[in-house]
This record gives sequence, structure tokens and C-alpha cells, in this order.
Amino acid sequence: MLSVAEVPILNALRSQAARVGCRVVTSRSFAPGFLWGAATSAYQVEGGNYTSDWWVWERQPGSGCAEPSLDACDHYHRYRSDIQSLANLGFNAYRFSLEWSRIEPEPGEYSRAQLDHYRRMLEACHEHGLTPIPTFHHFTSPRWVAEQDGWANPATAERFAHYCRVAAAHLRDLFEMAITINEPNMPPLLGYQDGIFPPGLRDPGARQLVNATFIRAHELAAEAIRTETDVRLGLALAMVDLQPVDGGEEAAAALRQVREDVFLDATSGDDFVGVNAYTRHEVGPEGIRAPAAGARLTGLGWEYWPQALEACVRRAADVTGKPILVTENGIATDDDSERIAYVTEALTGLRRCIEAGIDVRGYLYWSALDNFEWNHGYAPKFGLIGVDRVTQERTIKPSATWLGAIAGRGSL
Ligand code: FCB
Repeated sequence: MLSVAEVPILNALRSQAARVGCRVVTSRSFAPGFLWGAATSAYQVEGGNYTSDWWVWERQPGSGCAEPSLDACDHYHRYRSDIQSLANLGFNAYRFSLEWSRIEPEPGEYSRAQLDHYRRMLEACHEHGLTPIPTFHHFTSPRWVAEQDGWANPATAERFAHYCRVAAAHLRDLFEMAITINEPNMPPLLGYQDGIFPPGLRDPGARQLVNATFIRAHELAAEAIRTETDVRLGLALAMVDLQPVDGGEEAAAALRQVREDVFLDATSGDDFVGVNAYTRHEVGPEGIRAPAAGARLTGLGWEYWPQALEACVRRAADVTGKPILVTENGIATDDDSERIAYVTEALTGLRRCIEAGIDVRGYLYWSALDNFEWNHGYAPKFGLIGVDRVTQERTIKPSATWLGAIAGRGSL
């Protein structure tokens, strides 16, 4: 048996072997100590996040949101039994986020009660043998940040870092690994260029500015958190397997630059890179093409493309040379056997990455629960665990038992 500390050594051996064309074969395809778990984000599961910008956005005429989040999965009150379920299933890690708008509902006013809530969540993870991986920002910001020009205001980076420092100081003894920002590349695109996330702008120029604020926020937050703790830090990047077709190489390279590379370049001081990957886009000279007529789509309208995980992990590792943590991968589907098929293929690709010598530290399925899928509302079902929308009753899906068993044995 290897200890957690020995996993990087095995990964380094694998990497050396790959360089000379050999493979290191162990009885398990994923080393002991590999993190197996599921992810959620505060706003998508907690419920009642009134002080967040998304609460306003859901109700804003023209926002295009399918429905309000309201109680979400009431995870704010039910986290203990949800965490217990993940542990019972066989997982050893849980990624969740801290809601900035709860912790700092007004500028500079920090809620001790809310910080204590997240202490209790972290403690619950430890009690159940789960490694907690808190994320300090997952799409939502306090209303007061939005009122001061949101992420288009460069000062938001400093404000975010200040909150990170306060939270890290309060929680410091309870976590060893964290994500600063989830998908810092998505709010600039979806909120400032495509207009479907708050603040609903359609201004490509603003997107560049907001990219820069997020990058600065990541760097300042990492510095602030490291002032309080010596945890391992990274960001979680939304990656897509961008495939040039019909001469789309240049267009694909330009997209990679603005969507991924500027953020991958910002990971140079990090301990690992978090990869969120779900699908591919074909890119022609004119840009991203919609999936071809008749292409197989998931419940979110994305092309069914489990191979995306391998492609994105390889790219993140190539560009950064850092260890990789799969921070999100999964599928929205009402057919749970399709989930198992999708994840089987994704994990087979991930195993190939490991065999090729890439240092992959874990796999976190998105999502632990059927939850609030942003502008799409509750219709898409990503969860390993179903949630009754009226009673909040949880149902363990077969895919949860299946993936938990893989986690327990460390092999497919
Ligand atoms: C990612 C988000 C996550 C969830 C999944 C489906 O982009 O990080 O909150 O919405 O997509």
C-alpha cells in the first residue's frame, strides 16, 4: 500500500517510464490516495442565498433564467447527511464552495456565524473520512460587489482576496487543499460577453478586462490564503476539447488563448491545476460550430463527448507541467445508465493520462446532487444523488453506488 505522500513518487516513476516508452503497472489503475469524490457549489445547493448577485439576476426581467433557486437542495441544513451519504458510498473527498455573500454580506462586515457554518461543514467531512476541498468563489458574488461594477471593477480582486484571507484564517486548521476560483474564465464570457450570467452584458471588450480582474483575484487570493495557511492551492478551469475543422486551426488557437491559456499561464505559482471538462467544440475558421445535426447531445444540449476529459487533462498538463486534479466532469441526463457509460469512458481516458505519466491527483464528479443548474434551473440532472423538488428527499442513484465502488477499489 502507498501512503498519500507516496502518490507523487509513483506518479513521477510513471512519468519517467513513459519518457522511455515503458509503463509502470500496479494492481490498481488509480493509486491509493487518489481523491475520489463529487462536487457541489454553495449557490447551486444551499438555498436561500438572498445576499448574492445571482438571487437578483434570477428575478431580473430578460435574464432568461428558467426559475429561481429558492431552497435549492437545502444543503445548508442537510449538509451533514449529504456528506455522510458520500462517505457511505465509498468516496474520500468532497468539493464544495464557500458563499462569499454569506460570509461578507456587506463590505467589510464579516459574519462569524456563517464562517462557523463552514467550519462545521469541514469538520463533518473529517468526521466521515472525506478530504474537504473548499472553493472560495464559484460564480456568485455579494450584491454589494455587483453594485460596485462587479468584476469589471479591478478593485474587486483586492476585495475578494481580503475575504479569502478572513475565511482562511477562520478555517485554517480544517483544510489542506483548496480552489481559489471556479472557472474564472466563465463569468467573463457568460456574464460580460454572452449576457446570460450576471451582469448580462454583451460586450467583448469588457470580457478582456474581467478576465484580467479574475486572474489578479486568483493571484492575490492565493497570496492571502498562503499568509494564513500552507494549503495546496489551484484554480478550476473550464476546459473544452477544441477541435479545429476545415482550416479552423487559427480560430481554435485564438479561442484557446482567451478562454484557457491566459488562465493556465496564471497557475505558475500554484500547486496543481483543476480541470473541469465535459464536451468538445468543433471550430471552423468562423469560430465554434454548433454540434452537427443528429449529434448525440446531453441534457444540457452539450455534445456527448466523454473523450473531452482525456484531451483537456493532457492539454492542461502539457501547458503547465503541474499536477492535475479533475475538479468537475459529468453529464446531465435523466437516464442514469447513460451517466455510467459516460463516466466509464471519461475514466478510461483519465487512466490513459496516468499511464502516460501525467500526475493526476483525483477525480471529482459533477455533481453530488441534482441541483440548480444556473440559468437552466432544475431540469438538468447531473447528480449522483437525486433530490425530490418538493420534499427534498434524497435518492441514491445506481451511478452513485457504481462510482463509489470504483473509488473503494481504485480501479475501473
Ligand atoms: C460548470 C460549473 C458548475 C456546473 C457545471 C455543469 O461550468 O462550474 O457549476 O454548472 O458546469
